[in-house]
Amino acid sequence: MAVDTTETLKTIAEKSGMYIGTCANLQAIENDAAYVANITRHFNLVTPENALKFRVLCPERGEYNFEAVDKLVAFTAAHNMQFRGHVLVWNDQLPHWLLNGNFSRNELASILVNHIETVVGRYAGKIPVWDVVNESVDELGHFKKTFWYNTLGPAYIEMAFEAAHRADPAARLFYNDYGVEGTYEHENGVYRLLQSLTYHHIPVHGVGYQMHLSLEHTDRKIIGSLNTQRLADMGLECNITELDVRMRTGEGRFPQQYEAQAALYADIARNYILEKGCNTLILWGFTDRYSWIPFFYPGEGAATIMTEQYTPKPAFFSLLEELKKKI
Ligand code: G3I
Repeated sequence: MAVDTTETLKTIAEKSGMYIGTCANLQAIENDAAYVANITRHFNLVTPENALKFRVLCPERGEYNFEAVDKLVAFTAAHNMQFRGHVLVWNDQLPHWLLNGNFSRNELASILVNHIETVVGRYAGKIPVWDVVNESVDELGHFKKTFWYNTLGPAYIEMAFEAAHRADPAARLFYNDYGVEGTYEHENGVYRLLQSLTYHHIPVHGVGYQMHLSLEHTDRKIIGSLNTQRLADMGLECNITELDVRMRTGEGRFPQQYEAQAALYADIARNYILEKGCNTLILWGFTDRYSWIPFFYPGEGAATIMTEQYTPKPAFFSLLEELKKKI
């Protein structure tokens, strides 16, 4: 059943021209009416949790399966939601044919560019924003030694943004990363990367901060510490792209922890939406029913703003209250 509040996250966000989003999976949209009722009620942006990952789209070389993305794009268009493309270049969810192909530098560069041109080109005019490159910098500020880096070096990043721009010159292109708020070295590494890209006139428009937070390990003092101003000074936008706040889920634990979770959600909204002027806040799921957390962090969960039964938690209301302050 849809949440019974007269004010929704979406109606409040839209009053200040904001995007409030969530990742989503087609399976839930096709099979769960309550999921559809809530996602359309509270969000004006959707990004696919997995449907655009390389391995999901192209499990066999040259054979693309666009059906799920086509349906998700149609769903968002029918509900006046923005569709954010996630993600073109990452080290995870790569197809086996690619990982095991022993490709030369030239072959790999051409695979990367063809993939991006194929995918972005297909949705040109329909997907206005893309997470182009994900998670290239480590917590010490160095380039991660990833599949793409190991053969192409850091040039893969420029190649990716240029290919995306060629395929859809109007699309807004983002570098996306996690844990950037964790160390100054990581934040500075991302800054140096963006500085170099903009210096070389590579088409990049913003940085996405994922913000997968943990109640146990996140220091509230560092939440708002990211220096988005120096990115803005280079003409770059800042988005929060994958917010969730996980907690340990032993018996009887979650209600007591919900207030602390609500405070962290509010911290993010206050710091990045109200104070730093980010206009896009995306949750990595809005209901515990489909959250990725229990699968990846056994013993943890309850990371989203609604329970598995779609009951809004204190985090839902704290987020709503912060968004209202922007109006
Ligand atoms: O659905 C299958 C299931 O049938 C199978 O039994 C099981 C065994 O491996 O796998 C299930 O698929 C998993 C899928 O999530 C569905 O939950 C995949 O293995 C697993 O790799 C996939 O994980 C996704 C992960 O990215 C890796 O692509 C998560 O759903 C997704 O939430 C997560 O999202 C990432 C962002 O894209 C980038 N930032 C970090 C974020 C969290 O890791």
